[in-house]
Amino acid sequence: MTAPVAIFEPIPDHGRHLFFDIKPGGDLRTALKALAAECDGQAAVLGVGEPLVRALDAAVPGLRTFPQLPQAKPPIPATQHALWLWLRGDEPGNLLLRGHALEALAAPAFALKQAIVSFRHQDYRDLTGYEDGTENPEGEAASEAASAMGQGPGIDGSSYAAVQQWLHDFPKFDAMSPTEQNHCFGRDRVSNEELDDAPESAHVKRTAQEDFDPEAFVVRRSMPWVAGEDAGLVFLAFGKSFDAFEAQLRRMTGHDDGLTDALFRFTRPLTGGYYWCPPIGNGAVDLSALG
Ligand code: HEM
Repeated sequence: MTAPVAIFEPIPDHGRHLFFDIKPGGDLRTALKALAAECDGQAAVLGVGEPLVRALDAAVPGLRTFPQLPQAKPPIPATQHALWLWLRGDEPGNLLLRGHALEALAAPAFALKQAIVSFRHQDYRDLTGYEDGTENPEGEAASEAASAMGQGPGIDGSSYAAVQQWLHDFPKFDAMSPTEQNHCFGRDRVSNEELDDAPESAHVKRTAQEDFDPEAFVVRRSMPWVAGEDAGLVFLAFGKSFDAFEAQLRRMTGHDDGLTDALFRFTRPLTGGYYWCPPIGNGAVDLSALG
């Protein structure tokens, strides 16, 4: 069993995120098995939400629904679905068509609720122009951060993915001076150097992975998205559990010290879900942990 390869590869040129809920009366196991056979962890990653595991009368250690954070400022929506598919490729038309084929396999038991078209921007930049993913762990450190280990077959090699669609307010961002923009992130947009004089609200100060106890490392594979005039980032973080992401999100939203992440000056999440990505065996998703 291995972890889905996509976790450890740079983001592809194009991506497509599909979110499904359960259709009443469908044969969940048959549809899930059909999907699992088509998801190799590289061209397609499959993530199972807590509602689906509950409906199957199964259990996955550490799998829970996206947290409700009533104290969060600004509000953080929890829009948990039963199933998430992340399609990766180099051409958006092919991703649409591959998505249709997977949607047909899912259709007897799952209803498609949302599809997000995503892509790589320049050299791995957010649409604000800031390079994203610089502080991702690599190699052994990435495996350690992003895949479950020591929990037995069916779980080892699996990963816990947090997915949020963020909507940018470009007029608000553009109204800031370059210095204010840099201070939102805590990095220089051009050189990507970390700024010593950045305020405590700067995003990279809020989320500095080694500043948590325990350290909160994740592997981020976020991609920009566009739909008509709306655009932003599909934030995606893989962890050996949801704990590191959740610690970061809580600090971003003022739970630790009342300070809110400066990113919220120009962007906010519209959705949020937690998905468990089973390990891969023989080129397909291994569902043995679900019985
Ligand atoms: C629209 C939303 C977001 C944008 C545009 C964004 C962008 C960025 C950028 C440009 C960096 C600096 C370069 C890098 O190390 O990747 C960064 C770092 C980071 N971000 Fe975000 N991010 C967003 C949301 C989030 C969220 C929701 C989390 C977790 C809850 C998060 C966690 C992190 C972490 C852990 C780092 C690295 C911190 C470090 O150890 O230096 N980000 N982000």
